[in-house]
Amino acid sequence: MKKIFISGVLLLCSLTSYGQTSIIMDAKGSDQQISRHIYGHFAEHLGRSIYGGFYVGEDNTKIPHVNGVRKDVIAALKNLNIPNLRWPGGCFADTYHWKDGIGPKDQRPTIVNTWWGGVTENNSFGTHNFLNLCEILETEPYLAGNVGSGSVQEMMDWVQYTNSKEGNPMSKLRQENGRAEPWQVKYWGIGNEPWGCGGNMDAEFYANLYKQYATYMAGGYLDGGIYRIASGPAGDDYNWTEVLMKKIPLSLMEGIALHHYAVTDWNAKGPSTTFDEKQYFGTMRQALLMNELVEKHSAIMDKYDPEKKIGLVVDEWGGWYEVEPGTNPGFLYQQNTMRDAMIAGATLNIFNNHSDRVRMANLAQTINVLQAVILTDEEKMLLTPTYHVMEMYKVHQDATLLPLQVKSAEYQLGDDKLQAVWTSASRNKQGVTHISLVNVHASKAQEISIDIKGASYKKLSGRILRSKKLQDYNTFENPNLITPQAFKDAKLKGNTLTLKVPPFSVVVLALE
Ligand code: AHR
Repeated sequence: MKKIFISGVLLLCSLTSYGQTSIIMDAKGSDQQISRHIYGHFAEHLGRSIYGGFYVGEDNTKIPHVNGVRKDVIAALKNLNIPNLRWPGGCFADTYHWKDGIGPKDQRPTIVNTWWGGVTENNSFGTHNFLNLCEILETEPYLAGNVGSGSVQEMMDWVQYTNSKEGNPMSKLRQENGRAEPWQVKYWGIGNEPWGCGGNMDAEFYANLYKQYATYMAGGYLDGGIYRIASGPAGDDYNWTEVLMKKIPLSLMEGIALHHYAVTDWNAKGPSTTFDEKQYFGTMRQALLMNELVEKHSAIMDKYDPEKKIGLVVDEWGGWYEVEPGTNPGFLYQQNTMRDAMIAGATLNIFNNHSDRVRMANLAQTINVLQAVILTDEEKMLLTPTYHVMEMYKVHQDATLLPLQVKSAEYQLGDDKLQAVWTSASRNKQGVTHISLVNVHASKAQEISIDIKGASYKKLSGRILRSKKLQDYNTFENPNLITPQAFKDAKLKGNTLTLKVPPFSVVVLALE
Protein backbone atom coordinates (compact mmCIF):
# COMPACT_ATOMS: atom_id res chain seq x y z
CA MET A 1 0.00 0.00 0.00
CA LYS A 2 2.81 2.36 1.05
CA LYS A 3 4.66 1.48 -2.17
CA ILE A 4 1.61 2.27 -4.31
CA PHE A 5 1.16 5.59 -2.50
CA ILE A 6 4.80 6.60 -3.01
CA SER A 7 4.82 5.71 -6.70
CA GLY A 8 1.46 7.51 -7.06
CA VAL A 9 2.99 10.65 -5.57
CA LEU A 10 6.04 10.32 -7.79
CA LEU A 11 3.84 9.94 -10.87
CA LEU A 12 1.78 12.98 -9.89
CA CYS A 13 4.96 14.98 -9.30
CA SER A 14 6.38 14.06 -12.69
CA LEU A 15 3.08 14.88 -14.41
CA THR A 16 2.72 18.22 -12.71
CA SER A 17 6.38 19.15 -12.44
CA TYR A 18 7.17 22.47 -14.02
CA GLY A 19 10.37 24.12 -15.01
CA GLN A 20 10.94 27.18 -12.84
CA THR A 21 11.89 30.48 -14.42
CA SER A 22 12.18 33.85 -12.73
CA ILE A 23 12.39 37.20 -14.46
CA ILE A 24 12.96 40.74 -13.25
CA MET A 25 11.49 43.37 -15.56
CA ASP A 26 12.74 46.95 -15.46
CA ALA A 27 9.43 48.60 -16.36
CA LYS A 28 10.91 52.11 -16.16
CA GLY A 29 12.18 51.41 -19.66
CA SER A 30 15.33 52.21 -21.60
CA ASP A 31 16.46 54.59 -24.31
CA GLN A 32 16.36 51.73 -26.80
CA GLN A 33 13.71 51.52 -29.47
CA ILE A 34 12.90 48.18 -31.12
CA SER A 35 13.01 49.09 -34.79
CA ARG A 36 9.92 47.91 -36.63
CA HIS A 37 12.31 46.85 -39.40
CA ILE A 38 13.28 43.81 -37.32
CA TYR A 39 9.91 42.43 -38.49
CA GLY A 40 10.86 42.51 -42.20
CA HIS A 41 10.27 39.91 -44.91
CA PHE A 42 12.03 38.57 -47.98
CA ALA A 43 10.69 37.62 -51.42
CA GLU A 44 13.05 36.04 -53.93
CA HIS A 45 12.46 34.87 -57.48
CA LEU A 46 12.58 31.32 -56.18
CA GLY A 47 10.07 28.50 -56.62
CA ARG A 48 6.49 29.72 -56.02
CA SER A 49 7.46 32.79 -54.00
CA ILE A 50 6.77 35.44 -56.63
CA TYR A 51 4.95 33.48 -59.34
CA GLY A 52 1.90 31.81 -57.75
CA GLY A 53 2.72 33.26 -54.33
CA PHE A 54 2.52 37.03 -54.70
CA TYR A 55 1.83 37.35 -58.38
CA VAL A 56 -0.76 35.47 -60.44
CA GLY A 57 -0.74 37.76 -63.49
CA GLU A 58 -2.88 40.68 -64.57
CA ASP A 59 -5.05 38.41 -66.77
CA ASN A 60 -5.92 35.89 -64.06
CA THR A 61 -9.69 35.42 -63.81
CA LYS A 62 -9.75 32.75 -61.06
CA ILE A 63 -7.82 34.39 -58.22
CA PRO A 64 -8.83 37.91 -57.09
CA HIS A 65 -5.91 40.30 -57.55
CA VAL A 66 -4.77 43.91 -57.76
CA ASN A 67 -2.54 44.44 -60.81
CA GLY A 68 -1.75 40.72 -60.74
CA VAL A 69 -0.93 40.51 -57.00
CA ARG A 70 -3.22 38.25 -54.92
CA LYS A 71 -5.71 40.16 -52.78
CA ASP A 72 -5.68 37.51 -50.03
CA VAL A 73 -1.90 37.87 -49.72
CA ILE A 74 -2.12 41.67 -49.60
CA ALA A 75 -4.71 41.51 -46.80
CA ALA A 76 -2.69 38.97 -44.80
CA LEU A 77 0.55 40.96 -45.05
CA LYS A 78 -1.18 44.25 -44.22
CA ASN A 79 -2.45 42.61 -41.06
CA LEU A 80 1.19 41.92 -40.08
CA ASN A 81 2.19 45.58 -40.61
CA ILE A 82 5.18 44.36 -42.55
CA PRO A 83 7.74 47.18 -42.33
CA ASN A 84 9.95 46.20 -45.28
CA LEU A 85 10.24 43.64 -48.05
CA ARG A 86 13.55 42.48 -49.55
CA TRP A 87 13.63 41.62 -53.28
CA PRO A 88 14.62 40.08 -55.80
CA GLY A 89 17.08 37.77 -53.96
CA GLY A 90 19.02 36.02 -52.45
CA CYS A 91 21.28 34.29 -54.88
CA PHE A 92 18.94 35.36 -57.68
CA ALA A 93 19.87 39.01 -57.05
CA ASP A 94 23.39 38.53 -58.39
CA THR A 95 22.05 37.13 -61.67
CA TYR A 96 19.30 39.73 -62.02
CA HIS A 97 19.52 42.57 -64.53
CA TRP A 98 16.76 44.96 -63.58
CA LYS A 99 16.34 46.41 -67.07
CA ASP A 100 15.06 42.96 -68.16
CA GLY A 101 12.01 43.58 -65.97
CA ILE A 102 10.77 46.98 -67.23
CA GLY A 103 8.87 48.12 -70.32
CA PRO A 104 6.26 46.22 -72.37
CA LYS A 105 5.98 42.67 -71.04
CA ASP A 106 5.97 41.04 -74.47
CA GLN A 107 9.36 42.60 -75.17
CA ARG A 108 11.06 41.48 -71.96
CA PRO A 109 13.79 38.86 -72.30
CA THR A 110 13.31 35.40 -70.89
CA ILE A 111 16.10 33.90 -68.81
CA VAL A 112 16.78 30.62 -67.01
CA ASN A 113 16.73 30.84 -63.21
CA THR A 114 19.99 28.96 -62.75
CA TRP A 115 19.97 29.01 -58.96
CA TRP A 116 16.47 27.80 -58.38
CA GLY A 117 15.25 24.81 -60.36
CA GLY A 118 16.46 25.92 -63.81
CA VAL A 119 12.97 27.22 -64.60
CA THR A 120 12.08 29.93 -67.10
CA GLU A 121 11.94 33.46 -65.71
CA ASN A 122 9.95 35.62 -68.09
CA ASN A 123 10.56 38.84 -66.15
CA SER A 124 6.84 39.62 -66.06
CA PHE A 125 7.25 40.69 -62.41
CA GLY A 126 9.79 43.51 -62.38
CA THR A 127 10.72 46.77 -60.68
CA HIS A 128 7.35 48.52 -61.24
CA ASN A 129 5.37 45.51 -60.02
CA PHE A 130 7.48 45.18 -56.89
CA LEU A 131 7.63 48.84 -55.93
CA ASN A 132 3.92 49.38 -56.62
CA LEU A 133 3.20 46.34 -54.42
CA CYS A 134 5.25 47.90 -51.62
CA GLU A 135 3.14 51.04 -51.91
CA ILE A 136 -0.05 48.99 -51.59
CA LEU A 137 1.39 47.18 -48.57
CA GLU A 138 2.63 50.50 -47.12
CA THR A 139 5.98 48.85 -46.61
CA GLU A 140 9.53 50.00 -47.38
CA PRO A 141 11.16 48.26 -50.33
CA TYR A 142 14.62 46.83 -49.78
CA LEU A 143 16.32 46.21 -53.14
CA ALA A 144 19.22 43.77 -53.35
CA GLY A 145 21.50 44.92 -56.19
CA ASN A 146 23.62 42.77 -58.47
CA VAL A 147 27.34 42.86 -57.67
CA GLY A 148 28.28 39.31 -58.71
CA SER A 149 27.43 39.66 -62.41
CA GLY A 150 26.36 43.29 -62.62
CA SER A 151 28.19 46.58 -62.85
CA VAL A 152 28.50 49.82 -60.92
CA GLN A 153 26.76 51.58 -63.82
CA GLU A 154 23.81 49.14 -63.70
CA MET A 155 23.39 49.73 -59.98
CA MET A 156 23.68 53.53 -60.36
CA ASP A 157 21.06 53.40 -63.08
CA TRP A 158 18.68 51.44 -60.87
CA VAL A 159 19.02 54.00 -58.08
CA GLN A 160 18.43 56.80 -60.58
CA TYR A 161 15.43 54.98 -62.12
CA THR A 162 13.67 54.46 -58.78
CA ASN A 163 14.67 57.67 -57.00
CA SER A 164 15.50 60.56 -59.33
CA LYS A 165 12.53 62.87 -59.84
CA GLU A 166 13.38 64.18 -63.29
CA GLY A 167 16.08 65.44 -65.61
CA ASN A 168 18.11 62.24 -65.77
CA PRO A 169 18.15 59.53 -68.45
CA MET A 170 16.74 56.95 -66.04
CA SER A 171 14.02 59.19 -64.60
CA LYS A 172 12.99 59.87 -68.19
CA LEU A 173 12.87 56.15 -68.95
CA ARG A 174 10.74 55.55 -65.85
CA GLN A 175 8.33 58.24 -66.95
CA GLU A 176 8.13 56.70 -70.42
CA ASN A 177 7.22 53.43 -68.69
CA GLY A 178 4.25 55.07 -67.03
CA ARG A 179 5.50 56.14 -63.61
CA ALA A 180 5.80 59.89 -63.12
CA GLU A 181 6.98 60.15 -59.51
CA PRO A 182 9.99 58.30 -58.07
CA TRP A 183 9.34 55.61 -55.46
CA GLN A 184 12.15 56.86 -53.20
CA VAL A 185 13.77 53.57 -52.26
CA LYS A 186 15.84 53.94 -49.11
CA TYR A 187 17.20 50.43 -48.46
CA TRP A 188 19.78 49.00 -50.86
CA GLY A 189 21.74 45.78 -50.49
CA ILE A 190 25.09 45.78 -52.29
CA GLY A 191 25.22 42.17 -53.49
CA ASN A 192 24.21 39.01 -51.66
CA GLU A 193 26.45 36.35 -50.09
CA PRO A 194 29.57 37.41 -52.04
CA TRP A 195 31.45 34.65 -50.15
CA GLY A 196 29.26 32.10 -51.99
CA CYS A 197 26.61 32.39 -54.71
CA GLY A 198 27.36 36.13 -55.04
CA GLY A 199 30.80 35.63 -56.56
CA ASN A 200 32.92 33.38 -54.27
CA MET A 201 34.98 36.39 -53.15
CA ASP A 202 37.12 36.80 -50.08
CA ALA A 203 36.33 39.55 -47.58
CA GLU A 204 39.13 41.88 -48.71
CA PHE A 205 38.11 41.72 -52.37
CA TYR A 206 34.44 42.31 -51.55
CA ALA A 207 35.27 45.23 -49.23
CA ASN A 208 37.08 47.00 -52.09
CA LEU A 209 34.29 46.28 -54.53
CA TYR A 210 31.74 47.45 -51.98
CA LYS A 211 33.49 50.81 -51.61
CA GLN A 212 33.35 51.31 -55.35
CA TYR A 213 29.60 50.62 -55.53
CA ALA A 214 28.78 52.57 -52.38
CA THR A 215 30.67 55.64 -53.60
CA TYR A 216 28.59 55.98 -56.74
CA MET A 217 25.32 55.24 -54.96
CA ALA A 218 25.93 57.89 -52.29
CA GLY A 219 22.97 60.17 -51.70
CA GLY A 220 20.77 58.15 -54.00
CA TYR A 221 18.57 61.20 -54.79
CA LEU A 222 17.02 61.04 -51.32
CA ASP A 223 17.00 63.75 -48.67
CA GLY A 224 19.06 62.21 -45.90
CA GLY A 225 20.61 59.67 -48.27
CA ILE A 226 19.97 56.02 -48.89
CA TYR A 227 20.74 53.15 -46.48
CA ARG A 228 23.51 50.99 -48.01
CA ILE A 229 23.83 47.48 -46.66
CA ALA A 230 27.08 45.56 -47.14
CA SER A 231 26.76 41.81 -47.63
CA GLY A 232 27.88 40.37 -44.37
CA PRO A 233 29.05 37.06 -42.99
CA ALA A 234 27.59 33.59 -43.05
CA GLY A 235 26.89 32.60 -39.47
CA ASP A 236 30.06 32.64 -37.38
CA ASP A 237 32.50 34.02 -39.97
CA TYR A 238 33.73 36.74 -37.62
CA ASN A 239 36.70 37.52 -39.82
CA TRP A 240 34.30 38.75 -42.53
CA THR A 241 32.77 41.32 -40.19
CA GLU A 242 36.21 42.36 -38.91
CA VAL A 243 37.54 42.95 -42.44
CA LEU A 244 34.48 44.92 -43.56
CA MET A 245 34.50 47.10 -40.45
CA LYS A 246 38.23 47.72 -40.77
CA LYS A 247 38.34 48.47 -44.49
CA ILE A 248 35.09 50.30 -45.20
CA PRO A 249 34.83 53.89 -43.91
CA LEU A 250 31.74 54.37 -41.74
CA SER A 251 30.66 57.17 -44.09
CA LEU A 252 30.17 54.63 -46.89
CA MET A 253 27.99 52.10 -45.12
CA GLU A 254 24.80 52.17 -43.08
CA GLY A 255 24.37 48.45 -42.39
CA ILE A 256 26.08 45.06 -42.50
CA ALA A 257 24.03 41.97 -43.26
CA LEU A 258 24.18 38.61 -41.48
CA HIS A 259 22.70 35.33 -42.74
CA HIS A 260 21.99 32.44 -40.41
CA TYR A 261 19.65 29.51 -40.98
CA ALA A 262 18.61 26.93 -38.39
CA VAL A 263 20.01 23.91 -40.20
CA THR A 264 21.44 20.90 -38.39
CA ASP A 265 23.28 19.34 -41.35
CA TRP A 266 23.38 20.87 -44.84
CA ASN A 267 23.62 17.37 -46.34
CA ALA A 268 20.73 15.93 -44.32
CA LYS A 269 18.39 18.74 -43.36
CA GLY A 270 15.62 16.43 -42.14
CA PRO A 271 11.89 16.55 -42.84
CA SER A 272 9.78 19.62 -42.11
CA THR A 273 6.94 17.73 -40.36
CA THR A 274 7.95 14.16 -39.41
CA PHE A 275 10.92 15.09 -37.23
CA ASP A 276 11.64 13.51 -33.83
CA GLU A 277 12.65 15.23 -30.59
CA LYS A 278 16.38 14.84 -31.33
CA GLN A 279 15.95 16.65 -34.65
CA TYR A 280 13.82 19.30 -32.96
CA PHE A 281 16.46 19.86 -30.29
CA GLY A 282 19.17 20.15 -32.96
CA THR A 283 17.15 22.70 -34.94
CA MET A 284 16.52 24.78 -31.84
CA ARG A 285 20.19 24.70 -30.88
CA GLN A 286 21.01 26.13 -34.31
CA ALA A 287 18.22 28.71 -34.12
CA LEU A 288 19.22 29.87 -30.62
CA LEU A 289 22.82 30.23 -31.76
CA MET A 290 21.52 33.52 -33.17
CA ASN A 291 21.96 35.02 -29.70
CA GLU A 292 25.69 34.31 -29.71
CA LEU A 293 26.12 35.35 -33.35
CA VAL A 294 24.44 38.69 -32.82
CA GLU A 295 26.49 39.36 -29.68
CA LYS A 296 29.84 38.41 -31.19
CA HIS A 297 29.34 40.25 -34.49
CA SER A 298 28.08 43.28 -32.52
CA ALA A 299 31.18 43.20 -30.31
CA ILE A 300 33.39 43.38 -33.42
CA MET A 301 31.29 46.24 -34.79
CA ASP A 302 31.58 48.05 -31.43
CA LYS A 303 35.37 48.20 -31.80
CA TYR A 304 35.13 50.27 -34.98
CA ASP A 305 31.76 51.91 -34.39
CA PRO A 306 31.29 52.51 -30.64
CA GLU A 307 28.43 54.89 -31.31
CA LYS A 308 26.53 52.10 -33.05
CA LYS A 309 25.86 54.06 -36.22
CA ILE A 310 25.99 50.96 -38.42
CA GLY A 311 23.09 48.53 -38.16
CA LEU A 312 23.38 44.76 -38.07
CA VAL A 313 20.83 43.62 -40.64
CA VAL A 314 19.95 39.93 -40.31
CA ASP A 315 18.42 39.83 -43.76
CA GLU A 316 18.07 36.04 -43.99
CA TRP A 317 17.04 33.86 -41.06
CA GLY A 318 14.74 30.92 -40.36
CA GLY A 319 14.44 27.13 -40.48
CA TRP A 320 15.55 25.19 -43.55
CA TYR A 321 14.49 21.55 -44.05
CA GLU A 322 14.09 19.06 -46.87
CA VAL A 323 11.43 20.05 -49.39
CA GLU A 324 7.96 18.52 -49.18
CA PRO A 325 8.01 15.10 -50.84
CA GLY A 326 7.15 15.28 -54.53
CA THR A 327 7.99 18.97 -54.93
CA ASN A 328 10.84 20.47 -56.99
CA PRO A 329 14.03 20.35 -54.83
CA GLY A 330 15.03 23.73 -56.29
CA PHE A 331 11.82 25.38 -55.04
CA LEU A 332 12.54 25.03 -51.28
CA TYR A 333 8.87 24.46 -50.46
CA GLN A 334 8.47 23.20 -46.88
CA GLN A 335 5.65 22.92 -44.33
CA ASN A 336 5.65 24.94 -41.14
CA THR A 337 4.96 23.41 -37.71
CA MET A 338 5.05 24.45 -34.07
CA ARG A 339 8.83 23.97 -34.33
CA ASP A 340 8.86 26.96 -36.68
CA ALA A 341 6.75 28.94 -34.23
CA MET A 342 9.46 28.23 -31.63
CA ILE A 343 12.20 29.44 -33.99
CA ALA A 344 10.27 32.61 -34.85
CA GLY A 345 9.27 33.47 -31.28
CA ALA A 346 12.71 32.90 -29.78
CA THR A 347 14.60 34.62 -32.62
CA LEU A 348 12.42 37.73 -32.54
CA ASN A 349 12.96 37.97 -28.78
CA ILE A 350 16.72 37.79 -29.41
CA PHE A 351 16.49 40.59 -31.99
CA ASN A 352 14.35 42.76 -29.69
CA ASN A 353 16.83 42.37 -26.86
CA HIS A 354 19.72 43.35 -29.17
CA SER A 355 17.92 46.18 -30.90
CA ASP A 356 20.75 48.57 -29.99
CA ARG A 357 22.61 46.96 -32.92
CA VAL A 358 20.06 44.82 -34.79
CA ARG A 359 18.14 47.43 -36.77
CA MET A 360 16.58 45.25 -39.40
CA ALA A 361 15.90 41.57 -40.17
CA ASN A 362 14.17 39.57 -42.88
CA LEU A 363 12.60 36.19 -42.36
CA ALA A 364 13.35 33.80 -45.23
CA GLN A 365 10.93 33.78 -46.97
CA THR A 366 7.44 35.28 -47.18
CA ILE A 367 5.44 32.85 -49.34
CA ASN A 368 5.91 29.16 -50.29
CA VAL A 369 9.67 29.17 -49.63
CA LEU A 370 11.55 28.00 -46.48
CA GLN A 371 10.00 29.31 -43.22
CA ALA A 372 7.09 30.99 -44.96
CA VAL A 373 4.35 32.97 -43.25
CA ILE A 374 1.95 32.17 -46.10
CA LEU A 375 1.44 29.05 -48.23
CA THR A 376 -0.67 29.02 -51.40
CA ASP A 377 -2.12 26.31 -53.58
CA GLU A 378 -3.79 27.84 -56.65
CA GLU A 379 -6.73 29.84 -55.24
CA LYS A 380 -6.23 28.53 -51.67
CA MET A 381 -4.07 30.30 -49.08
CA LEU A 382 -3.16 29.47 -45.49
CA LEU A 383 -1.38 31.25 -42.66
CA THR A 384 1.37 29.26 -40.96
CA PRO A 385 2.20 29.15 -37.22
CA THR A 386 5.11 31.48 -38.05
CA TYR A 387 2.61 33.99 -39.44
CA HIS A 388 0.71 33.92 -36.15
CA VAL A 389 3.88 34.54 -34.14
CA MET A 390 4.70 37.55 -36.35
CA GLU A 391 1.16 38.81 -35.87
CA MET A 392 1.27 38.38 -32.07
CA TYR A 393 4.68 40.12 -31.91
CA LYS A 394 3.79 43.13 -34.07
CA VAL A 395 3.04 44.99 -30.82
CA HIS A 396 6.82 45.33 -30.33
CA GLN A 397 7.32 47.32 -33.54
CA ASP A 398 8.90 50.71 -32.71
CA ALA A 399 8.15 50.21 -29.00
CA THR A 400 10.62 50.98 -26.19
CA LEU A 401 12.60 47.99 -24.98
CA LEU A 402 12.12 47.06 -21.33
CA PRO A 403 15.24 45.30 -20.01
CA LEU A 404 14.76 41.82 -18.48
CA GLN A 405 16.97 39.72 -16.24
CA VAL A 406 16.08 36.09 -16.87
CA LYS A 407 16.95 33.02 -14.82
CA SER A 408 15.56 30.34 -17.07
CA ALA A 409 14.96 26.64 -16.53
CA GLU A 410 16.84 24.34 -18.86
CA TYR A 411 15.67 22.02 -21.58
CA GLN A 412 17.87 18.95 -21.38
CA LEU A 413 18.06 16.12 -23.89
CA GLY A 414 20.73 13.51 -23.20
CA ASP A 415 23.84 15.45 -22.24
CA ASP A 416 22.82 18.57 -24.11
CA LYS A 417 21.08 21.59 -22.64
CA LEU A 418 19.31 24.65 -23.98
CA GLN A 419 17.79 27.64 -22.26
CA ALA A 420 14.06 26.81 -22.08
CA VAL A 421 12.48 30.27 -21.86
CA TRP A 422 13.19 33.10 -24.32
CA THR A 423 11.51 36.41 -23.73
CA SER A 424 11.48 40.16 -24.39
CA ALA A 425 9.36 43.11 -23.29
CA SER A 426 8.48 46.56 -24.56
CA ARG A 427 6.19 49.51 -23.97
CA ASN A 428 4.35 51.04 -26.92
CA LYS A 429 3.40 54.66 -27.59
CA GLN A 430 0.00 54.15 -25.95
CA GLY A 431 1.73 53.08 -22.72
CA VAL A 432 0.82 49.38 -23.01
CA THR A 433 3.54 46.95 -21.93
CA HIS A 434 3.91 43.68 -23.85
CA ILE A 435 5.89 40.64 -22.75
CA SER A 436 6.50 37.85 -25.27
CA LEU A 437 7.59 34.46 -23.92
CA VAL A 438 8.54 31.25 -25.66
CA ASN A 439 8.92 27.92 -23.91
CA VAL A 440 11.00 25.82 -26.29
CA HIS A 441 10.89 22.74 -24.02
CA ALA A 442 9.30 19.85 -25.90
CA SER A 443 7.56 18.29 -22.89
CA LYS A 444 7.75 20.44 -19.79
CA ALA A 445 5.54 23.40 -18.92
CA GLN A 446 7.20 26.39 -17.26
CA GLU A 447 6.11 28.17 -14.13
CA ILE A 448 7.31 31.72 -14.62
CA SER A 449 7.33 34.54 -12.12
CA ILE A 450 7.99 38.10 -13.20
CA ASP A 451 9.01 40.68 -10.65
CA ILE A 452 7.99 44.09 -11.99
CA LYS A 453 10.19 47.02 -10.99
CA GLY A 454 9.32 50.64 -11.56
CA ALA A 455 5.66 50.46 -12.65
CA SER A 456 2.36 49.05 -11.53
CA TYR A 457 -0.39 47.68 -13.70
CA LYS A 458 -4.12 47.14 -13.26
CA LYS A 459 -5.11 45.23 -16.36
CA LEU A 460 -3.72 41.96 -17.73
CA SER A 461 -4.62 40.01 -20.87
CA GLY A 462 -2.80 37.53 -23.06
CA ARG A 463 -2.74 35.32 -26.13
CA ILE A 464 -1.16 31.94 -26.68
CA LEU A 465 -0.11 29.92 -29.72
CA ARG A 466 0.03 26.21 -28.98
CA SER A 467 -0.98 22.84 -30.35
CA LYS A 468 -1.20 19.23 -29.21
CA LYS A 469 1.90 18.09 -31.05
CA LEU A 470 5.13 19.86 -31.99
CA GLN A 471 4.74 18.42 -35.47
CA ASP A 472 1.26 19.95 -35.99
CA TYR A 473 0.73 22.33 -38.89
CA ASN A 474 -2.04 24.10 -40.78
CA THR A 475 -3.20 22.47 -44.00
CA PHE A 476 -5.35 23.71 -46.87
CA GLU A 477 -8.06 21.33 -45.56
CA ASN A 478 -7.68 22.48 -41.94
CA PRO A 479 -6.10 25.95 -42.14
CA ASN A 480 -7.06 26.98 -38.59
CA LEU A 481 -5.73 24.08 -36.56
CA ILE A 482 -3.13 26.42 -35.06
CA THR A 483 -4.27 30.00 -34.35
CA PRO A 484 -3.73 32.28 -31.35
CA GLN A 485 -6.16 31.80 -28.45
CA ALA A 486 -6.89 33.80 -25.30
CA PHE A 487 -4.40 32.98 -22.53
CA LYS A 488 -5.89 32.73 -19.05
CA ASP A 489 -3.07 31.16 -17.07
CA ALA A 490 -1.48 34.38 -15.79
CA LYS A 491 -2.11 36.21 -12.52
CA LEU A 492 -1.05 39.65 -11.39
CA LYS A 493 -0.70 40.21 -7.65
CA GLY A 494 0.86 43.52 -6.70
CA ASN A 495 4.12 43.69 -8.60
CA THR A 496 4.38 39.97 -9.22
CA LEU A 497 3.13 38.31 -12.32
CA THR A 498 2.95 34.51 -12.36
CA LEU A 499 2.08 32.34 -15.31
CA LYS A 500 2.20 28.76 -16.52
CA VAL A 501 3.40 28.35 -20.06
CA PRO A 502 2.78 24.96 -21.70
CA PRO A 503 5.53 23.13 -23.58
CA PHE A 504 6.39 24.42 -27.08
CA SER A 505 4.12 27.44 -26.91
CA VAL A 506 4.33 31.19 -27.46
CA VAL A 507 2.59 33.66 -25.14
CA VAL A 508 2.23 37.43 -25.49
CA LEU A 509 0.91 39.35 -22.48
CA ALA A 510 -0.45 42.90 -22.42
CA LEU A 511 -0.27 44.96 -19.22
CA GLU A 512 -1.92 48.33 -18.65
O1 AHR B 1 16.86 32.00 -49.01
C1 AHR B 1 17.39 31.06 -49.89
C2 AHR B 1 18.85 31.32 -50.23
O2 AHR B 1 19.63 31.18 -49.08
C3 AHR B 1 19.17 32.71 -50.72
O3 AHR B 1 18.94 32.85 -52.07
C4 AHR B 1 20.63 32.84 -50.40
O4 AHR B 1 21.00 34.17 -50.14
C5 AHR B 1 20.81 31.95 -49.19
O5 AHR B 1 21.89 31.11 -49.32
